[in-house]
Amino acid sequence: MKDAAPQPVRLSEYTPFPFVVEQVDLRFTLAGAETRVHSKIRFAPNPAAERAGEIFLHGKELELISARIDGAEVSPVITARGLTCPVPSGAFTWEAEVRIDPTTNTSLDGLYTSGGMYCTQCEAEGFRKITFYPDRPDVMAPFRVQIDSDMPVRLSNGNMVEEGVWDDPWPKPAYLFALVAGDLRNFPGEFKTMSGKDVELNIWVRPGDEARAEYAMDALKRSMAWDEEVYGREYDLQIFNIVAVDDFNMGAMENKGLNIFNSKYVLASPETATDTDYDFIEGIIAHEYFHNWTGNRITCRDWFQLCLKEGLTVFRDQQFSSDMRGAAVKRITEVMQLRARQFREDQGPLAHPVRPEEYIEINNFYTATVYEKGAEVIHMLKALVGDEGYAKALDLYFERHDGDAATIEDWLKVFEDATGRDLSQFSRWYSQAGTPRLTVEEHFKDGTLTLDFKQETKPTPGQAQKQPQVIPIAVGLIGPNGNEVAETRVLEMNKSEQSFEFTGLSAMPVASILRNFSAPVVLDRKLDIASRAFLLAHDTDPFNRWEAGRVLGKEVLTQMITEGAAPAPDLLTGLSRVVADDSLEPAYRALMLGLPSEDDLAQTLFDSGHVPDPAAIHAARDALQDAMAAEMEPILASLYEQMETPAPYSPDAEAAGKRSLRGACLGLLSRRDGCARAKALFEAADNMTEELAALAVLIRHGQGEAAVQAFYDKWRHDRLVMDKWFMLQVVQSSPETMAETVKSLTEHADFDWKNPNRFRSVLGGMQANPAGFHRADGAAYRLYADWLLKLDPVNPQTTARMTTAFETWARYDADRQQMMREQLERIAALPGLSENTGEMVGRILG
Ligand code: PHE
Ligand code: ZN
Repeated sequence: MKDAAPQPVRLSEYTPFPFVVEQVDLRFTLAGAETRVHSKIRFAPNPAAERAGEIFLHGKELELISARIDGAEVSPVITARGLTCPVPSGAFTWEAEVRIDPTTNTSLDGLYTSGGMYCTQCEAEGFRKITFYPDRPDVMAPFRVQIDSDMPVRLSNGNMVEEGVWDDPWPKPAYLFALVAGDLRNFPGEFKTMSGKDVELNIWVRPGDEARAEYAMDALKRSMAWDEEVYGREYDLQIFNIVAVDDFNMGAMENKGLNIFNSKYVLASPETATDTDYDFIEGIIAHEYFHNWTGNRITCRDWFQLCLKEGLTVFRDQQFSSDMRGAAVKRITEVMQLRARQFREDQGPLAHPVRPEEYIEINNFYTATVYEKGAEVIHMLKALVGDEGYAKALDLYFERHDGDAATIEDWLKVFEDATGRDLSQFSRWYSQAGTPRLTVEEHFKDGTLTLDFKQETKPTPGQAQKQPQVIPIAVGLIGPNGNEVAETRVLEMNKSEQSFEFTGLSAMPVASILRNFSAPVVLDRKLDIASRAFLLAHDTDPFNRWEAGRVLGKEVLTQMITEGAAPAPDLLTGLSRVVADDSLEPAYRALMLGLPSEDDLAQTLFDSGHVPDPAAIHAARDALQDAMAAEMEPILASLYEQMETPAPYSPDAEAAGKRSLRGACLGLLSRRDGCARAKALFEAADNMTEELAALAVLIRHGQGEAAVQAFYDKWRHDRLVMDKWFMLQVVQSSPETMAETVKSLTEHADFDWKNPNRFRSVLGGMQANPAGFHRADGAAYRLYADWLLKLDPVNPQTTARMTTAFETWARYDADRQQMMREQLERIAALPGLSENTGEMVGRILG
């Protein structure tokens, strides 16, 4: 029999839970397949809800051993979703015992084991796999947890009362519950808060990994200090624990007082981690820590409000990283990431509002739109109300909503109350999906520059009509001699078409529009190559200066692909000048040498009415890089020498910036020097950043065989490094043979496919090689789908997330469209397919 079609959950159908939870007491007996969870929960009627004569508690894959209300045995009705039981009219105590088996839990959701340790993941709805409970974020309660186990280290949320017993005084929703037990070692630290309280810090890792937690600890202390300084937020428990686990579906999790991390975002040493790894560790440690206030103390009323905590916390971690590593470089990398992930999502069948209105499986909505566009919305809000308005609004938010499960309406209301602004039109950013396209035309007459803007958002699934949004457009003007003649001014566009004037100009300036990427829109502006090159040389806004080069690069590549044009000299000379400019940070110059990605070009071609040919895109980028290398060889060669960083390795932003410029030079120079530099660097490197950069170049140029083997022999015992080894071979493979490379890597003895990091390295790596993924014979599509079919019964969350490789099918030619749809339909037809994957595949097919 086929299961009934899963029913969507809707924002419009929210009702409060009829009970409040006054106290939760849990006792875990960790005994492998015979693990028991005893719960004692004090319920009372919720004065804000209608009275109910029975209670519904979520529960999934639980074996109920006994249930009691106020001490008397009860027999609830149990379904696949939970249980229902009649209850007394006043307050009552529920007690239950369940049996669960963490050892066979491969979904990595709920209580599971990883490398011999017990750990939990409860967001969004994993707690219902641990015990029967109202598993919804608006039910908040204090928890006390006892862990009976012979494991030497036993951790849960809150403060430790005695060995294996934890008490968390702060009421929290069940998704923030966590438990860890294992043979772990700690890297200790301490922090004195601004009011003088001492906090014990620990990072728990597997024996032998202690030394690799040093950087994460340093990042944690800096995060704690930053949140005090910038937001006035202090930590609120005596202890803060972080645990690294190898098997984890996501990056990390902000459980109260006990953050659990994918080990790849905690562990780092110069020999094993790249500069990018260090950067991510810093950002994610900060992100999870910042959730303590934005997410934990103030949580979400329901999962539709996910962006309330995620958008804000991403925005906060971006501010932090910007303070730590430099604003310009950080902003550029944010925007590159936003375009690569969120714009792609917004332009395809999975487009949804920052606050979605319905879902089947909430785990499918931990998306770039909720996270990154959610952060961009706050970026705009701050631009509109100013720094002071933002600070006032945030103070009010913490003051008014501490301890609440809040909504986006609550969030916007504090901004309205703190600043007196009406944000009703602005709120469309939360409800309307799709990336607005902003078109601009420029006229100059009698000393006045007029900018005529139009905004348009294409229909997205379920939203045919779009209303005009409030778009903050930061504009500055550059005079003919290259000086800024008008400082940045934020224009507020709120109509479909709107004009703005700049008067009193003595000569026609070049406008620098959407400075610092002031809104998440696509800017459509016809500008001649000379003016773009002028902005590339003179724009005083570092983001837009980079953007000028990027747009120029895109235009040149488009002409190469669609008209067979040669690489334009303006681009080559413009880029050489910037790269040679010693007054600019190395990291910034490295970004200048990057070209728009193959995926970005495919979307750009599609938007301008072309059918993208992945092989032609790949070839054009290659040709342009050859031309850049030929034009700039002397500068690149001297920069390659200059950017050498002295030993010992340091992960700081300045040294990392030098290495990134050096790496960019290496990539281009290898097109001229027969990989001589890469071979030498591979031998000499004392850090993973350079070792990996050299290996990438060697593989890319078909000279990697010996190095791949040497790297394997050196690092085969290190899981995190081996993930890189697997991934690099896929990403750098020649597109024609990528599918075969993947096939043979999946047959490798170390391809532990149930580990999400390893699976993502190999299969996820395919997405970073679009010409290989979209190979004309469809071999890569089939192979990719084969593996999703294999993973789905084991780990539905990771499988569902990886279906997004197919979200762009509609861009391509009829043959490719058909082959991709065939694979999606094949997945949809899998007997027993998970709801997670079923929902995604259904939406992608449309
Ligand atoms: N809430 C986590 C974060 O953003 C992400 C996460 C979601 C982790 C769901 C696990 C499961 O930091
Ligand atoms: Zn988060």
